Order: sequence, then C-alpha cells, then structure tokens
Amino acid sequence: MSVTIERGELVSIVGHTGSGKSTLAQHLNALLIPQSGSVTVDGTDVTKDAKDLRGLRRKVGLVFQYPEQQFFADTIRDEIAFAPQNWGVRGRDLDDCVDAAARSAGLDPSLMEMNPFAVSGGQKRRVALASVLSMKPDYLVLDEPTAGLDAQGIRELIRLMTELRAKGLGVVQVTHDLESALANSGRVLVLENGLGVVYGEPEQVAEHLLLNPVEGLVMPPFQRFIAGLRERGIDLPLTSDISSIIDKLEEMRRCAF
Ligand SMILES: Nc1ncnc2c1ncn2[C@@H]1O[C@H](COP(=O)(O)OP(=O)(O)O)[C@@H](O)[C@H]1O
Ligand SMILES: [Mg+2]
Repeated sequence: MSVTIERGELVSIVGHTGSGKSTLAQHLNALLIPQSGSVTVDGTDVTKDAKDLRGLRRKVGLVFQYPEQQFFADTIRDEIAFAPQNWGVRGRDLDDCVDAAARSAGLDPSLMEMNPFAVSGGQKRRVALASVLSMKPDYLVLDEPTAGLDAQGIRELIRLMTELRAKGLGVVQVTHDLESALANSGRVLVLENGLGVVYGEPEQVAEHLLLNPVEGLVMPPFQRFIAGLRERGIDLPLTSDISSIIDKLEEMRRCAF
C-alpha cells in the first residue's frame, strides 16, 4: 500500500485488533524501520537517512497506545517539560510551554506535581498527549487516543484533533471505532491482516466496505440505515452527515407532492 498524509488533514487508521495499526503508526516516526518499502517525512527518506532521528521524532509526535510506556519522569510537570527543556527552553518560557501543552490536552492543573504513573487511565492519556504537544510537532500520531476516556473526554479529544488540524498539523489517529473515523476524518485508511484495504474520503471508504466487508469492522448504524433505504429504491449518499440526509429526504418529499 502507499499512503500520503498531508499537513492540515486528519487521517484515521482503522482495523481489527492485530491488523497492524500500531505497527504502521510506529513507522511514521521511525520507531520501527520497514524491512521493505520506505517512509518519507517532508522529503526525507527515514529508511535511508537515519542521521537525525531526534529531529524527526520532534517533527512527528507519537502518542503510544499504552501511555505509561512513554513515561519516565517523577512528576507530570517534568514529563511534559522534558522535550522543551532538552532544546534549551528555561524559566518562564518553559512554564508557559508546559502549561499551554497541559491545557490543550485537557489535563487537570492540580495534577502537575503528581507522579504520572499514579493518575487515572484517562489522565495518563492526557499526560502522554501533553508531553508530545510540548514538542510542538508538525505531525501528531495518536494510537487509540480515545481508549479509556468517557464520552465527554472523547468529544474533547476529537475537538482538539480538529483544532490542531485546522492549525496546519497533520493528525493521524488510530482507532477501531469506524463510526468516529468516518464522521471526523478527512481520509480513512482501513487495514486488514497487515495490508491496506482502502484509503480515501469517508464516503468512498464506506462505499467500499459496504461491497467488501472487513472482518471486525461493523458498518455504523446510520450508514446501515442509509443502505437499507437504498435497497428500497431511495438513492442517498453513504455519509455520516445526518443533516444533509434530512435535507435530501425533505427535497424528495417536496418533489413527490
Ligand atoms: N505489515 C506487517 N508486517 C509484519 N508484521 C506485521 C504487519 N502488521 C502487523 N504485524 C504484526 O502483527 C502484530 C499485531 O499488530 P499491531 O500493530 O499491534 O496491531 P493493532 O494495533 O492493529 O492491534 C504485531 O506483532 C506486528 O508485528
Ligand atoms: Mg494497536
């Protein structure tokens, strides 16, 4: 498969457990190097030119599926401060950088002096996200970022990813939630058994999956409803956009009378 992810877009990678989502995500910042094929970031082939891996990892921020795998500091503040401190940010500037990253990630400010391993699953995920945001990456790769969050946390995270995309970052989220992927991304990549099945805009991907179901990926209820209407001769696009469907149905009703 060949996949291009632009700055300013939000791409979702979906697939069944074991389909290779995390493996692919870890190639994007050269944590894994492919045995064949290549990964190019802003024109640099990381498989050939591995000199500046630190620079690359600052450019492509990866938030792990299991956030505690990336923790090593004694306090959440130190965890978030690590990267900017490393390239010389000090004093007030460092505090501002840490606070801004924590705020973006929705982290409770009262937790800053706590041990990152000691907070809840949802807060750990926010610490991991803040510690990557403090690097001010150009691309952000999030491996199952909504796992362990409640409904409100999921909404906030989707809003944050959308904001970062609008600011010009390339954002990649790994998820097994096809419904959220179709509703919230510009493009969706579907993986099955380590191979790319389809990559495209949500409607194209839904059309493909309707004709070629992938094991473990269930068509969301709204798209199933549209497919049911189509079987009854009502021609509608396979979109997640409920209001556009309502408008189309209203138009059809007007034409019928
Ligand atoms: N394209 C691939 N080539 C080789 N091994 C793969 C490939 N995709 C996945 N794997 C292997 O499959 C296993 C599960 O993949 P993983 O990336 O953890 O899946 P997911 O995150 O979708 O659950 C891992 O052991 C990984 O090494
Ligand atoms: Mg995974």
